[in-house]
Amino acid sequence: MSLSQLYAPIADDMKALDAVIRERLYSDVVLIRQVAEYIIGSGGKRLRPALVLFSAGAMGYRGRFHLELAAVVEFIHTATLLHDDVVDESDLRRGNKTANALFGNAASVLVGDFLYSRAFQMMVGVDDMRVMRVLADATNTIAEGEVLQLLNCHNADVDVEDYLRVIRYKTAKLFEAATRLGGILGKADPQLEEQLAAFGMHLGTAFQLVDDVLDYSGDEAATGKHLGDDLAEGKPTLPLIHAMRHGSPEQAARVRAAIENGGRDDFAGVLDAVRATGALEATLAVATQEAERALAMLEGLPPSIFKDSLVHLSKFAVAREY
Ligand code: IPE
Ligand code: IPE
Ligand code: MG
Ligand code: MG
Repeated sequence: MSLSQLYAPIADDMKALDAVIRERLYSDVVLIRQVAEYIIGSGGKRLRPALVLFSAGAMGYRGRFHLELAAVVEFIHTATLLHDDVVDESDLRRGNKTANALFGNAASVLVGDFLYSRAFQMMVGVDDMRVMRVLADATNTIAEGEVLQLLNCHNADVDVEDYLRVIRYKTAKLFEAATRLGGILGKADPQLEEQLAAFGMHLGTAFQLVDDVLDYSGDEAATGKHLGDDLAEGKPTLPLIHAMRHGSPEQAARVRAAIENGGRDDFAGVLDAVRATGALEATLAVATQEAERALAMLEGLPPSIFKDSLVHLSKFAVAREY
């Protein structure tokens, strides 16, 4: 199922969300408008805001704060991308030059800060202490995840548990916040709220596992990002951890050297080892397992088209090519 089919039940809200996002991007400072509109205008899947809308819908929420919180989550996501592309030295995102490539690192970092702080202004407007706590905690955890990942770069001894911790922090935590916020808005009872949150956590973990596969096997025209960015930064992602563990001593040494040295010079050699050891399939199998765990969390949710959409999303997260 394509994302536009998947979003059909929230099509009107997604349109309204776009208007909220554009309105809230406003600043008197021209460079902020330029950079923020550049990255937001390049699109993106809007998966995290859709999760807020679907989970609020699944809980029967009727109100307007879901749009505001969906925009907040997308702003936090966009801020992390602006910062992440500086740290990762990436120059392609959403099929366009990254903001850092076009406007420079300083502008990207500072406009990222603008988006974070604008998100906090907006969430305060919702005036609900629990909502603020969820978002403050998620934002803090994402920052921890990115720093942990920085510490792990060029370290070929990172194990699966270390890796999973990084991706739960840097990526899955915001998915978890998105689905939990839908639950909070819809006044889910504590158990259902925890289930929605766990759904988001497992879904986000699956999503990042697949992202890490696509960094080796994706089609740049589909992902809108360059292949090999992870290897260039010496990131020990699961495909590489698997290849080192299951490859021949030569294959393991080759991958280890690539992680330790970084760069793209041996991308082809590493890709051979990754392919030969079945590392991409193995990583996808873990993603599938996480998506199944996500799915199991939806039991007990009242039947609705929104619940069905969450089911479809759990499949999309694994099957996606972009
Ligand atoms: C990119 O997220 C960052 C990761 C967590 C892998 P998305 O793939 O959701 O990015 P956009 O918003 O669709 O561009
Ligand atoms: C996800 O990690 C980034 C954040 C959660 C901030 P990646 O570095 O893999 O994301 P992409 O591949 O650049 O989108
Ligand atoms: Mg990156
Ligand atoms: Mg990536």
